[in-house]
Amino acid sequence: MTLDSFSDRHHGRAVFATMTPDDRAAIGAVRDDLRAAGYDEAGVRAVLGMPVLDLQPAAFHHLDRHVLGVDPLAAAVRLFLLDRAVDERTVRTLLSEPSLDVLLLLGVLGETDGGFRSQVHITCAHDLLLATDTGRYSDWWGGADDLGDRVMYIGYDSAGLANVAPRSRAGRTLDLCSGSGIQSLVASRYSDEVVGVDINPRAIRFARFNAALNGIENTTFVLGDLLEPVSDREFDRIVANPPFVPEVPEGAHLLYRDGGPDGERLLAQIVSGAGQILAPGGLMSITTDLFNLEELPRRIGEWLGAKDGFDVLVLVERQFPVWAYADTHASHALTARERTEYAVRMVDALGDVGISTVHTGYIVVCRQPGGGPRQGTVQTVSLASPVTRPAGAHVADHFRFLDRDLDGHTDGVLRPNPAVRLVTSAPPGGPETHRLVAPEDDYVADMDISDLTRKLWQATVTSDVHWSVIRGSALEAVARELIRQGALTLDDLPPAAA
Ligand SMILES: C[S@@+](CC[C@H](N)C(=O)[O-])C[C@H]1O[C@@H](n2cnc3c(N)ncnc32)[C@H](O)[C@@H]1O
Repeated sequence: MTLDSFSDRHHGRAVFATMTPDDRAAIGAVRDDLRAAGYDEAGVRAVLGMPVLDLQPAAFHHLDRHVLGVDPLAAAVRLFLLDRAVDERTVRTLLSEPSLDVLLLLGVLGETDGGFRSQVHITCAHDLLLATDTGRYSDWWGGADDLGDRVMYIGYDSAGLANVAPRSRAGRTLDLCSGSGIQSLVASRYSDEVVGVDINPRAIRFARFNAALNGIENTTFVLGDLLEPVSDREFDRIVANPPFVPEVPEGAHLLYRDGGPDGERLLAQIVSGAGQILAPGGLMSITTDLFNLEELPRRIGEWLGAKDGFDVLVLVERQFPVWAYADTHASHALTARERTEYAVRMVDALGDVGISTVHTGYIVVCRQPGGGPRQGTVQTVSLASPVTRPAGAHVADHFRFLDRDLDGHTDGVLRPNPAVRLVTSAPPGGPETHRLVAPEDDYVADMDISDLTRKLWQATVTSDVHWSVIRGSALEAVARELIRQGALTLDDLPPAAA
C-alpha cells in the first residue's frame, strides 16, 4: 500500500491533490497566520525548550500535557509538530477563515471529534515553513508500517546540506531528490531559477505546497528519475540529498531512505552525471553517509570517469560505529526484540557488502571552469562540528584556493576569518601556548599553533599582509595551511594565469 492511498482513504482525498495555482493566496494566509502566532524557528524553540530538529516522538505527550500553554503558538505546535487533535475554538484563534478552509480543502486538516488534526507536520527551518509527512511513529498512521512514499521529515542531513551548499549568486540550480523541497527553497534565494526533481508524486505535491506556503515563485518541481527530466540542461549549482541508507533484506522500504545494497546506488549515478549537467565552474553539493571513507576518493574518481576536469571536496562530519549506525536505523521498530533483530540484520547486510566504517558528511564536486581540463583533486577535510550554520563560503573558498591555483597567483591580501580568535595560555612557570579557536564556525577546527603561525595570524589582524610578500618565505606554507583550514582567506585575487 502507498501512503497516498492510505491518506486518501483516511481523508477521502490524497493530501494536496486538489491544489491549483488559485490556492496560492489562501496558502499565503496560512503563512501569515502562523507567523503572526510566532511560529518560526526561534518561537518554537522557545516553547519546546529544544531545537525543532531535535524533537522526538517520545517527547510529544510530555510537551503536550506538561509544557505547552493554551495560546495560538501552542495550538500550532500541537497541530503541526505533535500530531495532536486541537479543538475548533482554539484552532480558530490560530487560523483565519480562508486559512482553515484551504487546509481542509487540501486535506491537510481533517475533522475529528469537535476539532481538527493535521495529517502533515509543518517544520520551521532556514526561515521557511516546510510541510512533510509526520514521523514514522505517528499513531495517526495506525498500524501501517511500510508506507514507502512518505515525504521525508526535515532531518539533520536536510538542514546540513542547505548550510554546506555555497550561497553566492547563481543562475540555474538543480535540486535532485527534492522531497519536501527544502533545498530548492533555500536555493531560490540565491538562484535566478531552481528546478527540483523527485520520483515520488506525493513529494512533488508537498514541495509545490511548500513553495506557495513560503511565497516563492522562481522554483518548479518536476516528477522524474534523477537526471532523466533535465538531462538536456546545464546547471550552475546542483544540490542533492539522495536516499543513501543501505537496504536491509526483508526490511520496510522507504523511497526517501533506500540507497541500494551499498547505499551508493543513487550517489554513484548523481556524481557520474556531473560531466553532463554541471556547467563549467559549477558546484554540486551532496549530503550522504560516507562508507569506507579511505576508499571513497577512488570510487568518486571512477564515478566521475576521468581524473581531470573536476575537483572534489569530501567533508567528514562524524563517525558512527557500524553497530550504532544499525541501531539508529532500527529505531522505528516497535519492540525491543524487533529493534535488536533489525539491527542484527542491518549489521549483517553492511558486512555482506564489505562496509566496515560509516561517517556522515558531504561530497562537493566542482567542474573546473573552461580553458581545458587540469589535473583533478580529491581532498578530505574533517569538519569541526556538525554543520548547523552556513558554511558554504568555506566550501567555495576551498575551490578558489586549491594549491594548484595558489601556485599560479602573484598577489592578494590575506584576510583573517572574523569568527576565529587567538587564545594564549601561560601556565605558571611554563612557556606560552597559542590556539586558534572558532566556536561559532562549524567548519574551522580548533588548532594548536606555532609561534610563527601566531605572528602571521596577528599580522593579518592588524595590517594588510600581501601574498606576494610572503611567497617563497617560510610563511607561505603557514598561510596555505590556515587557508586550507578556513582560518584565512585571500581577497583581491587576480585571475589565474591561463
Ligand atoms: C533523503 S530524501 C531528501 C529530501 C529533501 N531533499 C531533503 O533534503 O530533506 C530523498 C528523496 O529522494 C527521492 N528519490 C528517491 N529515488 C529517486 C530517484 N530515482 N529520482 C529522484 N528522486 C528520488 C525520494 O522520493 C525522497 O524524496
